[in-house]
Amino acid sequence: MLVRAAELKSHLGQDVTLQGWVYNVRAMGKVSFLFVRDGTGISQCVAARDELDPETYELVKRLSQESSVRVKGKVRPHGNYEDQAELLLEGLEVLGGSEGYPITPKPHGIDFLLSQRHLHLRSRLPTSTLRVRASVIDEIRAFFNRNGFVLVDSPIFTPAAAEGTSTLFEVDYFGEPLYLTQTGQLYAEAACMALERVYCFGPTFRAEKSKTRRHLTEFWMVEPEIAFADLDETIDWAQRLVDAVIQRVLQDHRVDLEVLGRSPEDLERIQLPYHRITHAQAAEILHGPQARQLLERDLESKLLRIREIEKEIEEKEAAREAARKPRQREHLTGQVQQLQTELEELRIEVKNIPHHIELAANFDPKSDLGGSNESVISRLHDRPVFVTHYPRECKAFYMKRNAQDPSRVNNFDLLAPQGYGEIIGGSEREDDLQALLERIAEEKLDVADYDWYLDLRRYGSVPHSGFGMGVERLVAWLCGLSHIRESIPFPRLMGKVYPRKE
Ligand code: 4AD
Ligand code: MG
Repeated sequence: MLVRAAELKSHLGQDVTLQGWVYNVRAMGKVSFLFVRDGTGISQCVAARDELDPETYELVKRLSQESSVRVKGKVRPHGNYEDQAELLLEGLEVLGGSEGYPITPKPHGIDFLLSQRHLHLRSRLPTSTLRVRASVIDEIRAFFNRNGFVLVDSPIFTPAAAEGTSTLFEVDYFGEPLYLTQTGQLYAEAACMALERVYCFGPTFRAEKSKTRRHLTEFWMVEPEIAFADLDETIDWAQRLVDAVIQRVLQDHRVDLEVLGRSPEDLERIQLPYHRITHAQAAEILHGPQARQLLERDLESKLLRIREIEKEIEEKEAAREAARKPRQREHLTGQVQQLQTELEELRIEVKNIPHHIELAANFDPKSDLGGSNESVISRLHDRPVFVTHYPRECKAFYMKRNAQDPSRVNNFDLLAPQGYGEIIGGSEREDDLQALLERIAEEKLDVADYDWYLDLRRYGSVPHSGFGMGVERLVAWLCGLSHIRESIPFPRLMGKVYPRKE
């Protein structure tokens, strides 16, 4: 019977077949351990010299990493782990060889791994991340579907900007310029006037010239749009959505979280309701002593870690000089490379911290929160925090002005904890035709481009609100990834398209 790694333990005592790829082989004299990876996990297969024909036994020892195989044998309780099973190998068929697989079990630098992303996907961290990502997307859809939202796909070719003209990718559309969409929102708003509660979910593009841990040029965004909803209602939808995703990940992905080094308790602690502050309060926090102390402590601990790493590198380099076996030397080289990557990153961070202290202290209360400001705010809160009512001039033209304070808009950003920063941006939409025309003029946008959008205000305009959640930012946070590039199968960043040989 054909089974997969995850099902092995429910077939104790039975003869089964597994198909997959060679993850590793450990030859121990009388027994060899063959680790076979399939899409659901890694199975330990035990080859016992005395019980297997000599030819197969020798073949097992010669198997190279990532060869594809079909193995047969009897399922029995795992030698070391009570709750697991292993396969006592009886037969082996090699489907496809694999010579010189470039990603070995030794540590590699992330740049190299991403240049090999088409193969890197087979490694444990990417497979766990991709599994979590798939469930995150599935839960997002399930959440909206069970709450009466209708999926309406928005187009990717668009004639105009919705999120600022500076981040548009232009494409030649039969000789005419069009752009890759930055957001499906304007189309979702049209659909919302037809179906009341809708969401669009697709790839979006930003030609952002930012090389940060949070920016991709191509990312996936889900955007609900809700007729008759105000800011409070929309915030509630947003937090219920995030909570549903967290519960799903906790329910289905404990093992993946562990593989990723993300403690499930970190996520379990995140209870509803999330915190809520205004932009003005955020400015006060940034100007206050808490923000400065946080960053100063950061600086200290990072400097300490730098000294530690420098010492470790020295020690490992000395050990490498002394090492006799090439494999040992190679292993140490890999470890040194990894430490050097960490060191480089820390040095950049340390160089930036004084700047971040300044950015916080001199934060202009009329401006948008920058990445480092968001980090400070989010690290000072143990749950996600909604920041509301940003100054009008730093936000998009479609956001509705606050009735009491017209210098602000009724919007929110949701900042994830632990410094992950903005994962959702949303707002009430300006539903008044005149106010919208003023904003379009203020932003120097061509009103003709928005004529169809203005029709939504001409014919039965209603109050409505919505938000956009970036899937990669959410996955990076939930998985505890240090960089957004690992949250998407094939990342696109400024200057980097993986996989592609440099
Ligand atoms: O805040 P943003 O720009 O909002 C919009 O696009 C609205 N039209 C959404 C709406 O109200 N329907 O983007 C929304 C989210 C951000 O909070 C972030 O999670 C993600 O999209 N995002 C990015 N993710 C990765 N790389 C980038 N360059 C991103 N830019 C935005
Ligand atoms: Mg935003």
